[in-house]
Amino acid sequence: MSTSYTFSVTRNPSAASAAERAKVLENPGFGNFMTDHMVMVDWTLDDGWGEGKVVPYGPLQLDPSASVLHYGQEIFEGLKAYRHADGSVWGFRPQANAERFNRSARRLAMTELPEHLFVDACQAIVEADLDWVPSGGETSLYLRPFMIASEPFLGVRSAHRYTFMVIASPAGAYFSGGIKPVDIWVSEEYTRAAPGGTGAAKCGGNYAASLIAQQQAAEHGCQQVCFLDAVERRWIEELGGMNVYFVYGDEKIVTPELSGTILEGITRDSILTLAREQGHTVVEQRVDINEVRADIESGAITEIFACGTAAVVTPIGSLQSADSKSVVQSSEPGADTLGIREALLDIQYGRTPDTHGWMHRFA
Ligand code: PLP
Ligand code: COI
Repeated sequence: MSTSYTFSVTRNPSAASAAERAKVLENPGFGNFMTDHMVMVDWTLDDGWGEGKVVPYGPLQLDPSASVLHYGQEIFEGLKAYRHADGSVWGFRPQANAERFNRSARRLAMTELPEHLFVDACQAIVEADLDWVPSGGETSLYLRPFMIASEPFLGVRSAHRYTFMVIASPAGAYFSGGIKPVDIWVSEEYTRAAPGGTGAAKCGGNYAASLIAQQQAAEHGCQQVCFLDAVERRWIEELGGMNVYFVYGDEKIVTPELSGTILEGITRDSILTLAREQGHTVVEQRVDINEVRADIESGAITEIFACGTAAVVTPIGSLQSADSKSVVQSSEPGADTLGIREALLDIQYGRTPDTHGWMHRFA
């Protein structure tokens, strides 16, 4: 496949050997290893977007006064390239990531990127590092497009120079326990995003702000944090890096509505469609943490799951906080969670026809 945007390619002279790569691909985990190349494209106020380059993966030369290092103008995306049984490699809704990237760019007052450049850059890294796309199981090549304010300038304003990059990392499961339910810490102390803030943007600062709560989660034996709204501390928003769904038996499946403070997950959006196709009634609405606790207690909520690119669909076992613990499913994932998970993976891995036009061939 060829891209419509042209990238110059400089091959990495010290690329991993086939044996080194095979060793990594045996058990990549998540985010531990990077491939041999990266994509770079610079933008300046005077000249716009420059030449796209695929270059050897390695450290950046960044001026210490680059404004990203001081004022945090940084946005990113996360999407996966999946190897199908016939060896071809596909992205899942990369256009949706390109659109969200530009929504994030607008919120952070950064320059927007032509959407085809975003998608072509993803394709360029997949082509350059094709041997790094794992096959078998639920493995993939995780792509991390991002953009930083690279202008050397300490004044506080939107930068006049940005660097867009894509790096790639072979991925297995995000949670090391496989599809075992994870426990969630409901943060009553810290919030992630406020109305008018950056919650709906995928910017590094949101994650920086979530880490202290994530630490508290870990201290309480939980794998992820659930954030409540910043105003009333009552409405469930999302997890640190995933959206969330609540299954009410055969009655309905509920997910927090897009409030402007949560990330519009592409997995979340895809599940709205897939769950409806499976005959579920799916509702987007405000979700009250106290009602959720009561509904778990009464058995009305039968399953809860998290969803996102990295996490795919992960069952949630319990919601915990300083003085409460509500256990929904302690050891085994529920049938609806597994059914939705399978429907999504079947499309991503090409095991079922892509009737929504979600898959994009990279190679
Ligand atoms: N919410 C947050 C805060 C995230 O970081 C992510 C991951 O990207 C998601 C939700 C899920 O989004 P997506 O399904 O597009 O990966
Ligand atoms: C993703 O699912 O792509 C994410 O960005 C979540 C997390 C790894 C930050």
